[in-house]
Amino acid sequence: MALLPNLHLALLLLFLAMCRGQRSNPGGERSSCDRCDPQHACNCSHAGYTFVPIVTDRALTLDLSFNDITVVTGGDLTAHEELRILILHRNRLSEIHPAALDSLWSLEQLDLSDNQLTAINRRWFSKLGALQELNLLNNPYSSLGSRPVLQRLVRLRRLMFGGPALEELKRGDLSGVSQLEELTLQANNLRRYESGALADVWPLGRVTLSLHGPFLTNEALASDVIGDVSYPETPIILKDLHLNHSIQPFKEMVRRRVRKITFCNISLTDNAMVDFLETVDGEPITSLFMDGITLIGEGRWEKARWSDHKNIDEFFVQNVVVLNVYQFTSFLPLGFLLKYPRKVSVINSQMFVMPCATSYLLLNLQYLDLSDNLLTELTLTETLCNGKGTLKDLRVLNVSGNALKSLSTVSRLVTKLSKLTHLDVSRNGFSSMPGVCSWPSTLRYLNISRAKLSTISACLPTTLEVLDLSNNDLKAFMLILPFLRELHLSGNKLLRLPPGWMFPNLQTLTIQSNTLSMFSLPDLQSYRRLQDLRAGQNKFICSCDFVYFLQSAIKGGEDAHLSDGKDAYICDSPLYLQGEPAWRVRLSVVVCRRVLFVSVSCVVALIIAVLVCVLLWRLHAFWYLRMTWAWLKAKRSSRLRRRREQLITYDAFVSYSERDASWVENFLVPELEEPRENDEDPRNGPTPRPLTLCLHKRDFLPGHWIVDNIMNAIECSRRTVFVLSENFVQSDWCRYELDFSHFQLFDGKAGSDAAILILLEPLSKDDIPKRFCKLRKLMNSTTYLEWPREEERSAEFWKKVRNALRNEEEEQKED
Ligand SMILES: *[C@@H]1O[C@H](CO)[C@@H](O)[C@H](O)[C@H]1NC(C)=O
Ligand SMILES: *[C@@H]1O[C@H](CO)[C@@H](O)[C@H](O)[C@H]1NC(C)=O
Ligand SMILES: *[C@@H]1O[C@H](CO)[C@@H](O)[C@H](O)[C@H]1NC(C)=O
Ligand SMILES: *[C@@H]1O[C@H](CO)[C@@H](O)[C@H](O)[C@H]1NC(C)=O
Ligand SMILES: *[C@@H]1O[C@H](CO)[C@@H](O)[C@H](O)[C@H]1NC(C)=O
Repeated sequence: MALLPNLHLALLLLFLAMCRGQRSNPGGERSSCDRCDPQHACNCSHAGYTFVPIVTDRALTLDLSFNDITVVTGGDLTAHEELRILILHRNRLSEIHPAALDSLWSLEQLDLSDNQLTAINRRWFSKLGALQELNLLNNPYSSLGSRPVLQRLVRLRRLMFGGPALEELKRGDLSGVSQLEELTLQANNLRRYESGALADVWPLGRVTLSLHGPFLTNEALASDVIGDVSYPETPIILKDLHLNHSIQPFKEMVRRRVRKITFCNISLTDNAMVDFLETVDGEPITSLFMDGITLIGEGRWEKARWSDHKNIDEFFVQNVVVLNVYQFTSFLPLGFLLKYPRKVSVINSQMFVMPCATSYLLLNLQYLDLSDNLLTELTLTETLCNGKGTLKDLRVLNVSGNALKSLSTVSRLVTKLSKLTHLDVSRNGFSSMPGVCSWPSTLRYLNISRAKLSTISACLPTTLEVLDLSNNDLKAFMLILPFLRELHLSGNKLLRLPPGWMFPNLQTLTIQSNTLSMFSLPDLQSYRRLQDLRAGQNKFICSCDFVYFLQSAIKGGEDAHLSDGKDAYICDSPLYLQGEPAWRVRLSVVVCRRVLFVSVSCVVALIIAVLVCVLLWRLHAFWYLRMTWAWLKAKRSSRLRRRREQLITYDAFVSYSERDASWVENFLVPELEEPRENDEDPRNGPTPRPLTLCLHKRDFLPGHWIVDNIMNAIECSRRTVFVLSENFVQSDWCRYELDFSHFQLFDGKAGSDAAILILLEPLSKDDIPKRFCKLRKLMNSTTYLEWPREEERSAEFWKKVRNALRNEEEEQKED
């Protein structure tokens, strides 16, 4: 009994050991992730993993972002020698084993951003010679470490680092990194910067700097950082700035002749704006991008009016928030800034008008993008100076996403813009299209997508090469556009493809998400130049024609390329195929080739029928059938026969073959029906009564079925004479006669010599086909008379015949 508690204890210990093992060695109990696609990209993001899951070692991409992984152990990633991309963004990583990444010598991209790494270990990267992109953003390390961490990353081209805790950058921190396409530094709280720390990186493609703190508190430090990465060809993106009037750091940038400046997420006072404009006065800045600016002031920038910005070619403002909308003067004072650029974009900036006066200033303007603002017909009329063609060089006008409603007004306003090629009026509220519009003759591109158009009209200019009418309510598209190359009609309610002859030059057609039920090869062939067709997400009826056509189109049999991929073509009906990609559907021949199937089956059935008939005919089945039927009939009538006995009108029914007719007519009939005196011996008594014969030729009722006739004849005759010959055996209806007489012989007058056989030519029993078993039987049982070859014996023959025929008659008389 003491053994049992011991066993329990042992099990408990084992269990505890297992639990401990699991905790100390998570590799033992790691869950696995098999969310890999055929390209070996494994996306294990958002799955709540707390440890690095087990993934196939053939993975090329491994996305582990948005999990709760805290540690990468030494063994987690061994065997991933082929891995190219590893993403550990937004986990809770605080620990990475020094050798954890050692086997990843194919790794090109490593993302460790948004984790809890308090220090960067140079050991991690010591084997990553192929690494091109490294993202260390948003981790709580305060410096990159005492020794250069990136030294071994000789291929590194994109580097992102820094975070809220980064305080210090020293010379040599980036040693080993020489040229970068992209450098992102988040140093909002940077306190110490050793001048030149970033200066060795050259050439430098693009720099993004977040220097919120330094700009506010340590302009010298900000100047140093900016100075170290400023090159004329390097676009600089400055983020997260709050600019009061401290714009000292820009002076450094200007001094280094930077040409492209972008501000992202900045707030700006009027003073700062004026200072900035004065600082960059006369400098070779060509593009000024501002994305996400909060304007704190009232727009009083006139002080910088005199400054010179003639080098600015492109001026781009997006997502402007004006804090004091009601006090804000307007962008009008920006006129001096807008005088030179060829491209101006003011996007999503609550702009409701650009005054005509400003437009007059935009002398060089070729590209104007005012999308996502608050323009209406009224204010657009002002902006475009009532259609006087003020912006005479304008080539592209984008007023997408405004509050326009009248297409005829828009067309009137632009008609004098004699160089306009592109007009984007998408995402406006046009609900109808006027019958006629006037457009600049240069217009090639027109985008009226996401309006509410339900019909189109000749308002659309025939000069168009690209037309976007997607996401409207169109039910049909009938308009000849001879130069059109691209037509976008997705998201409408079209039932069929527009006829291709209307667009002889069309190369691209998108017509996804409509209500197309099918299209076919002739439909496509009507488009002579079509190369790129996107017609997925429609309500396809997966008929045989469509499925067949689509499958051959996917195989590349057709010229037009279905570029949205085969999985976009999904059956909507029939019901049992709903949701099935059409390329996967297998329809049976019965369904698909119904006509062919029916005709083939008919032909086959016909052939079989013919074969069966031939077979039956060969086996004489019809004869047997008819026999059986007649026999049944005869059976029925045999009961009546006795009553009909008195009806007997003939002495004998003569059954003979047509070929033997001459013998019957020339010999038998004269001999028996009109007996000659001399033939009979007068001494034998009176001249015998002539016999009456029934001959089918002579006595049959015309119009009755031959079998009936024969049966009648047999019934009305006392005896049946069979004239047997080869011919008889071969002749068809002789057989009936034989048979009828046969049953009569056996049924009715069994035993009596009802049948008399005359053999015209010697006929052995073996000559008679087996089928005529009854005739054979008859020949066995009945003596037959043979027609003699020699003439002198014929008299004797006839006598025998007459005797045979009279025999019974006499007997009856005797009775
Ligand atoms: C993995 O899936 C998420 C959405 O679940 C997606 O945002 C992410 O881009 C995917 N990762 C890769 C590498 O495609
Ligand atoms: C914008 O900058 C401010 C600091 O000026 C920062 O707090 C905020 O997170 C930034 N926003 C974005 C979206 O980066
Ligand atoms: C700008 O700086 C001045 C002093 O330098 C300060 O008084 C003012 O409040 C600041 N304005 C904003 C909007 O921060
Ligand atoms: C017009 O602006 C919208 C939104 O900003 C953009 O999607 C579209 O491409 C622009 N059109 C042209 C012709 O640049
Ligand atoms: C037309 O405008 C829409 C919305 O602005 C945009 O998404 C689309 O790409 C444009 N079409 C073309 C052909 O550029």
